[in-house]
Amino acid sequence: MQPRALSMPPLGRRPSGFRQRPGTAISAVGAYFAERFELEVATHHAYVILCAELDALDAPKPLVESVERAVVEEREHIEWMRRLASRFAGVPVQDDFGGPASRPRSLSEIAVENMVEGCVRESFAAVIAGWQASHAKDHEVVEKLRNYAMRKTGHARLAWSIHRWSAKQLDELSRARVASAKEFAVYSLRDEIRAEPDPEVRMIAGVPTRMEAERLIDGLSVELWA
Ligand SMILES: [Fe+2]
Repeated sequence: MQPRALSMPPLGRRPSGFRQRPGTAISAVGAYFAERFELEVATHHAYVILCAELDALDAPKPLVESVERAVVEEREHIEWMRRLASRFAGVPVQDDFGGPASRPRSLSEIAVENMVEGCVRESFAAVIAGWQASHAKDHEVVEKLRNYAMRKTGHARLAWSIHRWSAKQLDELSRARVASAKEFAVYSLRDEIRAEPDPEVRMIAGVPTRMEAERLIDGLSVELWA
């Protein structure tokens, strides 16, 4: 089994320090879903940390409860991607991302991470998943990605709610840091879309071409990130 090049930038909320590894499989589609599985495990961990941090910061109860729901949903995403990786002969590698963050983070740090990983990357993940659900040719993939797109849309909305709550409490300098983190995150996302997806991944999983993905970023840049 050979590791493959990453098919897309890691989509979704990544915990600090996460580095996506190329998936291993005998098929490109299996490698793609093995990568998605690893990312779901990481995203689940990121939400577990976020939940504890918001609770410790006395965030509004509805926000904390929404993050708790996201933790439960991410557990399901892990199983969806495990199933798809196995079906296409991918090898899911489950990292142990450890316990809570090594030190309590400030609201300012959390707000920057939430902007990058939530408002930018989860918003992009939701749009990409919607695209995939309407372009994938495999029935099970379409069904899972359709649900996934709805969940990710909810997670992106949650990120913007966390952003609005945190912005009210941050000073001007911290808000400026969040704003420049957004600019840099959008720039980085564009930079990460370097390779064209494997034709099989494109057909079965509906992954957009580089140009299509760039157009989706253009749309979000105008409608959401401006
Ligand atoms: Fe997820």
